Amino acid sequence: MKIDLRHSALEAVATPCLILPLAEAKTLPAPFKPFDKLLDGRLAALLSSKEFSGKAGDTLLLHAPAGSPWQRLLLVGLGGSKQPARERLRQATSLALSSLKGRRILRAALPLDALPLKGLSLADRVAVAAEAAELCTYRFDRYRTTQKKDSAKAFEKLTLILPHAKDVSAAKPGLDQGLAIAAGVALARDLVNEPGNIKSPEFLAAAARNLACDAVRCTVLEEKALQQEGMGALLGVAQGSVRPPRLIVLQYQGTHEEVRPIALVGKGVVFDAGGISLKPAEKMDEMKMDMGGAAAVLGTFLAASRLKLPINLLGVIPAVENLPSGNAIRPGDILTSLSGKTIEVLNTDAEGRLILADALCYAQRYNPRVIIDVATLTGACIIALGHHASAVLGHHDGLIRQLIKAGEQCGERLWQLPLWDDYAQQINSEVADIKNIGGRPAGTVTAAAFLQKFVEIDAWAHIDIAGTAWEEKGKPGTPKGGTGVGVRLLVQYLLGL
Ligand code: BES
Ligand code: MN
Ligand code: ZN
Repeated sequence: MKIDLRHSALEAVATPCLILPLAEAKTLPAPFKPFDKLLDGRLAALLSSKEFSGKAGDTLLLHAPAGSPWQRLLLVGLGGSKQPARERLRQATSLALSSLKGRRILRAALPLDALPLKGLSLADRVAVAAEAAELCTYRFDRYRTTQKKDSAKAFEKLTLILPHAKDVSAAKPGLDQGLAIAAGVALARDLVNEPGNIKSPEFLAAAARNLACDAVRCTVLEEKALQQEGMGALLGVAQGSVRPPRLIVLQYQGTHEEVRPIALVGKGVVFDAGGISLKPAEKMDEMKMDMGGAAAVLGTFLAASRLKLPINLLGVIPAVENLPSGNAIRPGDILTSLSGKTIEVLNTDAEGRLILADALCYAQRYNPRVIIDVATLTGACIIALGHHASAVLGHHDGLIRQLIKAGEQCGERLWQLPLWDDYAQQINSEVADIKNIGGRPAGTVTAAAFLQKFVEIDAWAHIDIAGTAWEEKGKPGTPKGGTGVGVRLLVQYLLGL
């Protein structure tokens, strides 16, 4: 899809469809009044009769009268001003483009600068609209050989109009930013959607090596190196699969070498059958998404390097497959982790925390100033928050606040769960230093409490994306499958540093 920026009056843009986002209001905003004349006052009439309310989710497609420069008009609700402006614009853009695509209208124009979106700069508006538009074209169809041609007619062109802007060049970086983030999200979605037979730990490593460039260095530790290091927890999980594990290390340098990096650690279980504690068959296919945290880290590296963010980043991805076999670990086994702490494995399906224990420990060798881990860690997180928010836990309130704010801004919301010391008692073991399950109560919290035992720095946060990494039905801008959650959140956080 092509996305253009144009600095001209609305009336001067001839288009098959003018998209008009309107907020909840009874009257037409002043900047739109002059051109409602071209439409014989129809917009004002629609609003005053409440046939179009401007609520988020509302759309109305009209044919424009003869003689107007636009063939059609798509009204789309911007919702009330209580929602964050960025998210209102993102949802309105996604909704508009997906409803046009459904009607085979493949070119449209969207005015951005007269919209009532307080606090959103022109560059921000362009970034959000471009990101949303680009993601509306996302499809995972590389394995469809027959049906894809006709149904896949892609959206062709979106013109972003800035009629009142004094300086359009100031908005141009917004376009680059939106497209860089969308590329990161699309990469993450692709990796999550890739089926398990293709997606080995080495496949993830290859995807990481693909990101290497002047500013990004990628190193991959293979099985032998992991043994030499003593990563017993990671190796323990991996030993049930014939496909050997990898520890993927990415370093992005966007500023002086000596500046301490932000570390991003992503769970990379390419398929989670549960191991000997085998999962039930129903929906087991979805467990190819168990590397959603790794995908978020890889997508964030792609976006950060395209954006040339002025920071240093460290990425650590433990990549394994969790399968039952004659060589798999069993309930009751005791593993020695890289930190030296011993772990009693009482359920082999609680594998994410095992591989993350070693990855977190390894990441700390690089003296990071912040560590954020992202993981599809617990089914309990879906019980707690459903599919509308990821959970965030940690022991650094400032970092958690920053992450929650970034999530509100970009629409990938976080909700904090407590991590009081009391919960850690649930993972005390009688035979080892710690055990890998804490019983049914507060499963998301005890998983985080487990990770916390392997973190020595203050600024650490854990994000559980079990409920948000996979979209079950599909919605505007997010088709069924991997969502790429975490990329927008992490980039938003990094942009705010
Ligand atoms: N990968 C799963 C968690 C998960 C569940 C992610 C559903 C996405 C959707 C994780 O490895 C797991 O199996 N966790 C167990 C932990 C339990 C055995 C303590 C769970 O949540 O049931
Ligand atoms: Mn599991
Ligand atoms: Zn898992």
